[in-house]
Amino acid sequence: MINIKKIIADTINYSGEINLEDLIIESASKDKGDYCLPCFTFSKILKKSSQVVAEDFQKSLKPSNLIEKTEVVNGYLNFFLNVSELSKLILEDLTDLFKDTNNKTILNEGKGKVVCIDYGSPNLAKYLHIGHLKTLIIGESLCRLFELFGYTVKRLNFVGDYGTPFGKIIGGIQLFGSMEEVLKRGNDALQDYYVKFNQLEEKDEKYSQMARDIFKKIENRDEKVYPIYKKIVEISLADAIEKFKLLGVTFDDYRGEMYYNQFVPKLIEKLTSLNLLSTSQGAKIVDLSAYDMPPAIMIKSDGTTLYASRDLTASMLRYEDYKFDKMIYLTAVEQILHFKQWFKVAELMKADFSSALEHVAYGRFSLPEGKISSRRGKQAVLVDLLEYVLEKAKDVIKDRQFTIEKPEDVANKVSRAVLNYSVLKVERSKDCVFDVEKSFSFEGETAPYMQYTYTRIESILRKSKLTINSECDYSCFNSDAFDIVKMINDFPLDCKTALIKRDPSFVAKRVMDLCKAFNKFYASTKVLEGTSQEINAKISLLNKLKDTLKQGFNLICIDTLQEM
Ligand code: ARG
Repeated sequence: MINIKKIIADTINYSGEINLEDLIIESASKDKGDYCLPCFTFSKILKKSSQVVAEDFQKSLKPSNLIEKTEVVNGYLNFFLNVSELSKLILEDLTDLFKDTNNKTILNEGKGKVVCIDYGSPNLAKYLHIGHLKTLIIGESLCRLFELFGYTVKRLNFVGDYGTPFGKIIGGIQLFGSMEEVLKRGNDALQDYYVKFNQLEEKDEKYSQMARDIFKKIENRDEKVYPIYKKIVEISLADAIEKFKLLGVTFDDYRGEMYYNQFVPKLIEKLTSLNLLSTSQGAKIVDLSAYDMPPAIMIKSDGTTLYASRDLTASMLRYEDYKFDKMIYLTAVEQILHFKQWFKVAELMKADFSSALEHVAYGRFSLPEGKISSRRGKQAVLVDLLEYVLEKAKDVIKDRQFTIEKPEDVANKVSRAVLNYSVLKVERSKDCVFDVEKSFSFEGETAPYMQYTYTRIESILRKSKLTINSECDYSCFNSDAFDIVKMINDFPLDCKTALIKRDPSFVAKRVMDLCKAFNKFYASTKVLEGTSQEINAKISLLNKLKDTLKQGFNLICIDTLQEM
């Protein structure tokens, strides 16, 4: 990519403190050029009106073949770029957009570094709900962004396979269910038992004790109960993995809470030797009052571990396994305090990796009141949404003819795109409501609109016959074409921003803007008309656009289609 602002800044004869590059902005409208330098900041320092400052700057500009002309208007110095020269530079000379004109790439910052991302971690034996979409999809997109920048990424799923819910489910099997039914109905049976057991518990407290007792037996690897627990976890995890696959997500490591639980004594030993533990009402805690936080409870008075102690233990073992440079946890905002607390304990322990820990929180994801949200229980179940969206996708494409793609593949790709885009288009930390019906429109900011745009570009490219090394005449580019050129040039920076902010919405937004820009260009331009050099120029633009979109789609987990 080339730094247009720097190119402009370098033409200005100014050696003061102010960083010109930071001041230069895109012009608000085309008649004011492509970029402008507002000169108000200088007027105080230079003791001249901003208009005079702008005029003085204009008079002493160093010539550049990339700038066509400049104008001074109301204290602004407006720059009109040389469309031909810049287009040639960006579309032809830069073979790789992520490299600058000195052939230096920005993609190797992660070389040799390991990033672990803990995401999509469900509590097993319960249905995956629609909230899981966010962690799964944002997580996967972040993994791809880190990989783009050269990091080695480990996808970790810290499955929730620990706690009294498992005591309740096994209690349910004992009281009113059977293993046969579990084997036959899988997760549905487990969920039913859980709900029914909770109802009993509401009426009679003895059931709470029963669930706790059973769970104690699981922990002690009781020879009757433990195998049942193992089977439940196995069935439920297999079910979750199947759903992950539907979303195109797989993990490198599924070791969860129960696995790490067995190593908590190692953590307690360490905390004791560092004198960090104290006892409060029989529980072992780390006092965090000096940091304005409630104490981090490591061991309950009955001797059992807690979410925080299991997480902290897992981080120690994961560090041994992966020697990570960064360990990212992706969860809903509700868990912010949890992570803050145990990150602090890691810091107090002076763990080597404590500064590598990072919690990334996302906002809520919900559905409008209606069919899917009220089908079962409090929260909409993920499979219900997946099925509904897939049916909708089938319906939307049913009248279309396909010669290259299989219709069922198209339906799958469209439904996944709709889901993924609905999550990724919204700023990570914001809440969003997913309006399924609107998301299927071929107009407006939707995934099908993006996929359709891509197929249009492909089809033009298939029709054209660009010979390699053919000459291009970029002087035919109108402002719609040039807008695409500039956006393509900016794409690497959007990826970088998304990475730094841990927020793929920056990529999603740019991909959408590129699609809109293409459609505007397509409406104003006859691509396959003109001299052969002109056609070549337009085709080379579309080729670069296609490559950029393809990369963008991949980063936001949207499949491209060849036809639609
Ligand atoms: N299982 C937890 C939940 O469903 C999320 C786990 C996130 N990862 C972690 N290492 N704590 O809320």
